[in-house]
Amino acid sequence: MDIILLGPPGAGKGTQSARLVDHHQMRQLSTGDMLRAAVAAQTPVGLEAKAVMDRGELVSDEIVSALIDAELTAMGAGVGAIFDGYPRTEAQAVALDEILRNHGRELDHVVELAVDEDALVDRITGRFTCAKCGEGYHERHKQPEVAGVCDKCGSSEFKHRPDDNEETVRKRMQEYRAKTAPILPYYEARDIVTRVDGMASIDEVAQQIDAILS
Ligand code: AP5
Repeated sequence: MDIILLGPPGAGKGTQSARLVDHHQMRQLSTGDMLRAAVAAQTPVGLEAKAVMDRGELVSDEIVSALIDAELTAMGAGVGAIFDGYPRTEAQAVALDEILRNHGRELDHVVELAVDEDALVDRITGRFTCAKCGEGYHERHKQPEVAGVCDKCGSSEFKHRPDDNEETVRKRMQEYRAKTAPILPYYEARDIVTRVDGMASIDEVAQQIDAILS
């Protein structure tokens, strides 16, 4: 099963993807994570993307679609894909259809995480991850069970994303409203969009998604 998780910054796409990976043996394809890895490795893509990401703008459609195509090639058939943060423009939605066709795959569901934007700034600016395994936390909504120690790998090093400041978050939301939300009708016309309440607790959102996939 191949699905898209669609929602603005902080809607919970990464959080729910991680859970789907654990519980449904699916594979998370996050263009944000791929781009951050490219920035860290200082590849040509990373060098081009860094300034754009720091401003909260969108990286070019060609770059992100090529990243997705390469990941699908590497993962092969038989494993369901969760598209997290992709597509983000109409051109990317059209490109994804072609990429999926070329890989003999088809999109089953688009899950729209409906959220209250005012709450997202709080979610994002409070977010941090384990520097070693990438497990995600939040200063108020999801703290490690033992303060300062990652639940998953035991590391005591954590990090914040450079684009998780209020000014950049607001720009990312603007980009979502202007370029990403308008792709919903593209999928609604195929009757594959289901809206879930992204303001519910993390577990409740997960249950809503499970119900869609079952
Ligand atoms: P990307 O990494 O995709 O960031 P984003 O879309 O802005 O999304 P986030 O990762 O910020 O949020 P999320 O929805 O995953 O929320 P999370 O689960 O972490 O993209 C970054 C940049 O890369 C872009 O700005 C762009 O420049 C570039 N880029 C990436 N893809 C691109 C593309 N396709 N095209 C062009 N450019 C691209 O949750 C947030 C916090 O809230 C966490 O702390 C979590 O614990 C907490 N939380 C989650 N759910 C709940 C809940 N239900 N209740 C309470 N707290 C919750």
